[in-house]
Amino acid sequence: MAMQRATGAMVRACASSFSSGYLARHFHASSGDTKKIVGVFYKANKYASKNPNFLGCVENALGIRDWLESQGHQYIVTDDKEGPNCELEKHIPDLHVLISTPFNPAYVTAERIKKAKNLQLLLRAGIGSDHIDLKAAAAAGLTVAEVTGSNVVSVAEDELMRILILMRNFVPGHQQIINGEWNVAGIAHRAYDLEGKTVGTVGAGRIGRLLLQRLKPFGHDRLQMEQELEEEIGAKHMENLNEMVTKCDVIVINTPLTEKTRGMFNKEMIGRMKKGVLIVNNARAAIMERQAVVEAAESGHIGGYSGDVWDPQPAPKDHPWRYMPNQAMTPHISGTTIDAQLRYAAGTKDMLDRFFKGEDFPAQNYIVKDGEIAPQYV
Ligand SMILES: NC(=O)c1ccc[n+]([C@@H]2O[C@H](COP(=O)([O-])OP(=O)(O)OC[C@H]3O[C@@H](n4cnc5c(N)ncnc54)[C@H](O)[C@@H]3O)[C@@H](O)[C@H]2O)c1
Repeated sequence: MAMQRATGAMVRACASSFSSGYLARHFHASSGDTKKIVGVFYKANKYASKNPNFLGCVENALGIRDWLESQGHQYIVTDDKEGPNCELEKHIPDLHVLISTPFNPAYVTAERIKKAKNLQLLLRAGIGSDHIDLKAAAAAGLTVAEVTGSNVVSVAEDELMRILILMRNFVPGHQQIINGEWNVAGIAHRAYDLEGKTVGTVGAGRIGRLLLQRLKPFGHDRLQMEQELEEEIGAKHMENLNEMVTKCDVIVINTPLTEKTRGMFNKEMIGRMKKGVLIVNNARAAIMERQAVVEAAESGHIGGYSGDVWDPQPAPKDHPWRYMPNQAMTPHISGTTIDAQLRYAAGTKDMLDRFFKGEDFPAQNYIVKDGEIAPQYV
């Protein structure tokens, strides 16, 4: 296994970068203040009542409606988030708090921030705040926070599943069964064991490390490793991504989407990879160059691509990743298991409670605070 993380310390964007436009909006609710809170989630329709813990959908609204309304707050929930006439747009001018999930993200542009004169707090029920213009949020004095860690186990488990699905060429085998076919050779000619293969994670933060721990029992070729990590997960840390990608049979992306990682996997980077490389990307789609992935999948340079993230979301019907060969794509689902929903709903409620009481959030949850952007997004 190999992993790659950002070299050196990431720079903290400081308020001075925004000094010309920085306007601190009064953050905490003063006691007795009632707020307009808008939540953007995915609709569950007939599935909403199938599980009492299915909290992440529009219908169940994180399970916080009664709690919010009993304190006099207004709580509006929708999945309608795009275009000038959408439901979200109607509430932008007077909402105080906007909650969104990564699974049906409310894109918060500089233009929306400008219109949202009362906005104080942007909460991500989950992880990943790349849907927000963070510089504009910082300049406007908004607070942005996530439920850090809430679904990292869910994503790491899902990544392990995708690695195995690609390695075993599982999807075409499953399609054969549905289509009434039986063709062992059609699957077996490119199905492998995971044991002994080199797996690299680009980014070894919370999810990356959990994945490495879960890969350990599969066995792998040991390269030169850092002592502490060898003991913990048996991985070699590589500083140079260009070098790492040449060695890996499987590459898993586990970095946030930032200005530095956007388009990081372009034609050139993919060209450095081994022919037939398998790629798993549950991080963010825009880390990949869309067309470069399609062309490499078509030529066979990428032997398999699986992930749950798309740009934009929901993915349009004509998105080429739906139709490229050797893919095992799904909608954005890895971080929204029922277990994850319970954790991110509880974490969102906790932050709202602290907001109403004028208390700070857990430090690791802040993405933008007092005009500064957290280091992982700079
Ligand atoms: N698909 C899903 O449902 C889902 C759920 C949760 C998180 N995610 C995505 O996964 C990402 C990672 O989550 P996490 O909890 O592990 O975050 P984390 O902050 O714990 O870890 C991210 C790691 O990436 C590293 N990194 C940043 N820029 C890098 C670069 N240019 N090159 C190499 N490494 C770099 C950081 O140093 C850090 O170690 C999130 O930002 C989000 O986009 C997806």
